[in-house]
Amino acid sequence: MKKKFTHATIEKSPMLLLVLTLIVVAIGGLVEIVPTFLIKSTIEDVKGVRPYSPLELAGRNIYIREGCYNCHSQMVRSLRAEVERYGHYSLAAESKYDHPFQWGSKRTGPDLARVGGKYSDEWHRLHMADPRSVVPESIMPGYSFLAETPLDYRNIEGALRALSMAGVPYDDEAIVNAKADIKAQATPFADTDELMQRYPKALARDFDANPAMISELDALVAYLQMLGTLVDFNAYETTDFKQ
Ligand code: HEC
Repeated sequence: MKKKFTHATIEKSPMLLLVLTLIVVAIGGLVEIVPTFLIKSTIEDVKGVRPYSPLELAGRNIYIREGCYNCHSQMVRSLRAEVERYGHYSLAAESKYDHPFQWGSKRTGPDLARVGGKYSDEWHRLHMADPRSVVPESIMPGYSFLAETPLDYRNIEGALRALSMAGVPYDDEAIVNAKADIKAQATPFADTDELMQRYPKALARDFDANPAMISELDALVAYLQMLGTLVDFNAYETTDFKQ
């Protein structure tokens, strides 16, 4: 009489069990791996995300130079406590033009991914000069020299060109006008039409309240004030925890 093929048959034959296990695991693997080769991009395009203006980029370079990332992250995780404290969780697209990204791994201070617009420029000026003047219990070091140091942007075209090689869409016009765009963004009452066309939503004003020069503080505050402000989350139907 022919023996019935049951689960017991498989369990009693190590070789058969091995082969069938491998087949099942291979199917699971293919289902997970194949789609990653078929999609064009793993980062969804999101409206509003644009490359940094030259002034914001210079500020970002100061942020990196000073090692602010040692104490600050720039990534709001999709956890309830984080979303309630900082706002909408970070999207991949929001840091797609960051080379290198500033997600960070340590939060001695708060996350800064959405700090733009949270405080006035004046608050930032006081805070950067002496954090304890506005937050008495702060352990952040002061960076008072930033207000006194003229921004060195002689190489800003090179910075834009290097990023364009890494895939950031700065065209020739943006590169040629980089210096003019820095001046337009940091000088009060300057003509900002072209700047705004290239970098929608760019904030143009005298960030350090010192019209006599464009300082490193101008660049850093311009950068801090735009962080997390490019995407209009109200325009999206979010699956946010707040709803
Ligand atoms: C030694 C760690 C440390 C370093 C380095 C540091 N910070 Fe901070 N930062 C903190 C702490 C702690 C706080 C919270 C207290 C306060 O507001 O000062 C803070 C707060 C802030 C805030 C306010 C955030 C908020 O939502 O209230 C900003 C903006 C900020 N830091 C920017 C910077 C920048 C820019 C740099 C680099 C130039 C920097 N920090 C370097 C520790 C640090």
